[in-house]
Amino acid sequence: MNTGDYLLKPEGRVVMISGANRGIGRAIAGRLAEEGYRLSLGVRDQAQIEKVNGEFEGKEVLVHQWEAKEPTTSVEWAEATVSRYGRIDAVVSNAGLINSFDLESDDESGLDEMWEVNTKGPLRLVRAAWPYLKQAGSGRVIGIVSLSGLRVRSASMGGYAMSKHAAEAFLHAVRYSGWESGIRTTAICPGYVATDMTAGVATPPKEEMVQPQAVAHLVAMVLSLPNPSSVVTLPINCLLESSC
Ligand SMILES: NC(=O)c1ccc[n+]([C@@H]2O[C@H](COP(=O)([O-])OP(=O)(O)OC[C@H]3O[C@@H](n4cnc5c(N)ncnc54)[C@H](OP(=O)(O)O)[C@@H]3O)[C@@H](O)[C@H]2O)c1
Repeated sequence: MNTGDYLLKPEGRVVMISGANRGIGRAIAGRLAEEGYRLSLGVRDQAQIEKVNGEFEGKEVLVHQWEAKEPTTSVEWAEATVSRYGRIDAVVSNAGLINSFDLESDDESGLDEMWEVNTKGPLRLVRAAWPYLKQAGSGRVIGIVSLSGLRVRSASMGGYAMSKHAAEAFLHAVRYSGWESGIRTTAICPGYVATDMTAGVATPPKEEMVQPQAVAHLVAMVLSLPNPSSVVTLPINCLLESSC
């Protein structure tokens, strides 16, 4: 067997990526387009559809509206993907947000929004793609979770960590649900990544953070692994911590 013969190839495989207009999602889309995957990109509004369509002109890319808080848009996006390509091989659940958390405040709106977007968004998307992921025989679900899905480092990030721990748990549940159909899941868990999300973070400086392209590299690597090489969790950090 030649080196790489055992790996899954991009050609013909269809990948859905949420939040693909900027940040980590955009880097993943760019990398997977270069590799030769057929892409279906979820973005929130018409202006972003036009922007992303322009950036991927000439590539096999469908750009579709998707709003994590509106369950019907998951179904519409999955259906549009299947009518364009006839299959779905992988879902990269990337879209997410951070709201700060204050234990002493009785305002739960920020927490509820993170639950909707960070936790139920992935659930809605995977559910809509599920029959096609099962049909694929080597379906993949990759969540861009966070180190905050593995540990809690501050009080103000507590709500985000709750939503991301749940997102991590969801990926385990997906793996148990789809294992016999060849579905594998991976939680990619970055620390600080240099995107809009960390615009307000002074330390570490942007250039010392994980770059979005590094996360995209992990996604490409995980997508290439065959069914008997399940990678459940991948932490990636720019800081020294004891176990991640
Ligand atoms: N940056 C970090 O340090 C870091 C570290 C660990 C994990 N992560 C995770 O990585 C993922 C991507 O983050 P990022 O750093 O690339 O952030 P970002 O630059 O702020 O991008 C967030 C993306 O999520 C989309 N989004 C937000 N709310 C949405 C909703 N209600 N429905 C649909 N899409 C929505 C945004 O769409 P719009 O452009 O329309 O707002 C955007 O495409 C997130 O899940 C985040 O939690 C980030």
